[in-house]
Amino acid sequence: MKELLIIVISYTIVSHVCCCDFEYPTFPDGFKFGAAISSYQSEGAWNVSDKGVNDFDHWTHTCPECIGDRSNGDIACDSYHKYKEDVKLLRKIGFKFYRFSISWARILPSGLANNVSKDGIMYYKNFINELYMNGIEPLVTLYHFDHPQGLEDMGGWTNELMTQWFVDYANIIFTEFGPSVRIFITINEPSTLCTGYQATYVAPSKPLGDVGYYLCMHNVLKAHAMAYHLYDKKFRPSQHGLISIAIACDGYTLNENNDVVSAETYFEFTCGIMAHPIFIGDYPAIVKERLALVSKSQGYTVSRLPTFSPEWISYIKGTVDYFALNHYTSNLVSPDPDELHGIHNSDSGLLTNQHPSWPNSSSFWLRVYPDGFGNLLRKIKTDYNNPEIYVTENGFSDYGELQDYDRINYFRLYLKELIIAVTRDGCRISRYTVWSLLDNWQLAAGYAVSFGVVKVDFNSPNRERTLKLSAAWWADVIGTHTLQDVPSK
Ligand SMILES: *[C@@H]1O[C@H](CO)[C@@H](O)[C@H](O)[C@H]1NC(C)=O
Ligand SMILES: *[C@@H]1O[C@H](CO)[C@@H](O)[C@H](O)[C@H]1NC(C)=O
Ligand SMILES: *[C@@H]1O[C@H](CO)[C@@H](O)[C@H](O)[C@H]1NC(C)=O
Repeated sequence: MKELLIIVISYTIVSHVCCCDFEYPTFPDGFKFGAAISSYQSEGAWNVSDKGVNDFDHWTHTCPECIGDRSNGDIACDSYHKYKEDVKLLRKIGFKFYRFSISWARILPSGLANNVSKDGIMYYKNFINELYMNGIEPLVTLYHFDHPQGLEDMGGWTNELMTQWFVDYANIIFTEFGPSVRIFITINEPSTLCTGYQATYVAPSKPLGDVGYYLCMHNVLKAHAMAYHLYDKKFRPSQHGLISIAIACDGYTLNENNDVVSAETYFEFTCGIMAHPIFIGDYPAIVKERLALVSKSQGYTVSRLPTFSPEWISYIKGTVDYFALNHYTSNLVSPDPDELHGIHNSDSGLLTNQHPSWPNSSSFWLRVYPDGFGNLLRKIKTDYNNPEIYVTENGFSDYGELQDYDRINYFRLYLKELIIAVTRDGCRISRYTVWSLLDNWQLAAGYAVSFGVVKVDFNSPNRERTLKLSAAWWADVIGTHTLQDVPSK
């Protein structure tokens, strides 16, 4: 506890002095900054042309009460119509790349590859063209949570055939867009996506408990690996691109007992469950052990964590060209005392919390703890043989204020950790992506929390965009390639 207080106090002190309060304020040569967004969260235009209904359309229309403010993404930022304006904003701030996702249901209305939408293909070709005309590189996520409802009606990610449907879709994306896109991400945040088969706060909102969650994770890993191998064999020889999967990893810090074992278990349950099969092979040992133990105590005949055959283990291993890391916050973990009495309240056997001294945000799950980010970057370096890392999401939520000092403070503290990890510790990080360019539809929180460096007026039919103070700060950071202070109020 005392250590934590000292850390917090030292941050308060440094935030008053100039940017050069530590040894390395300048970013490495060639380091690139971009911004991110996703299709359902920003595009709107849910029923234009021949676009199919997706699982988010279905969820928000059939269960408005599932969303805090009863909103949906029918219009969202209306980026489908305003993409040229968004590209101008990116250019104005100076971002060098834009990470966006393609709406599966816009390309394949039914989800299956027999019927490809010409309008869908044309929309994204125009968008990519507009980015290039403004000197901005596209970084394309094939699938960021939203899939055609027709596929969900057949079981979605609980049906192993979903892996083949995904690869058929990926084949069309690589064929159509691969000639002009060099960097792909197959799937965004499986651990968030798969809570849609566990509980009801994200589509498809099927409360299948801890069976559905692991079944989804298992099929997602297979689908990712199949798409990777398709790209590697059929497209890479002519397209020369890079491909990965965006993994959501929380940071961590040791509790007051310096409990390394709990921190390690937490890491494997959150980050390792996706990263270990890809970078090392198979699920982490502790995850397999705990799931076998807890499943047995719950009366299941087999573990709720499905098993990979040796063939699948080697097929999935090595299927990324870089580590795509989404990161926001950290947790303190400790052993659940009930475990001593043979009571398993969770698969990990851990209690997690966030220290009350860590500054809060408008999201209940997001507190500011930059040390956790540094710890995570070093952990990835150590455990996975120092892979090249692209930070594909990082950001802070508030209530939409234009003078967003707390957001700037967050970026500054997290980027400082990033620079130290690269310069002092030898982590290989080459890109950083702000979540998000725009305020957008934040899943069950609707429009009540804001992550954008640009404000969107969701009450106005024109969805006017206004640059926040953080956009000006970013222009400065990117323009000077050097970390800047938080402006004084
Ligand atoms: C599309 O949805 C909007 C509501 O978001 C509705 O007003 C409009 O009539 C629909 N258009 C078509 C062609 O169905
Ligand atoms: C393809 O989709 C369009 C729009 O939904 C539909 O009108 C058309 O009949 C479909 N074609 C086939 C072959 O399914
Ligand atoms: C943090 O918590 C305080 C007290 O609950 C609240 O007033 C404040 O709005 C919160 N900050 C943010 C950014 O949500």
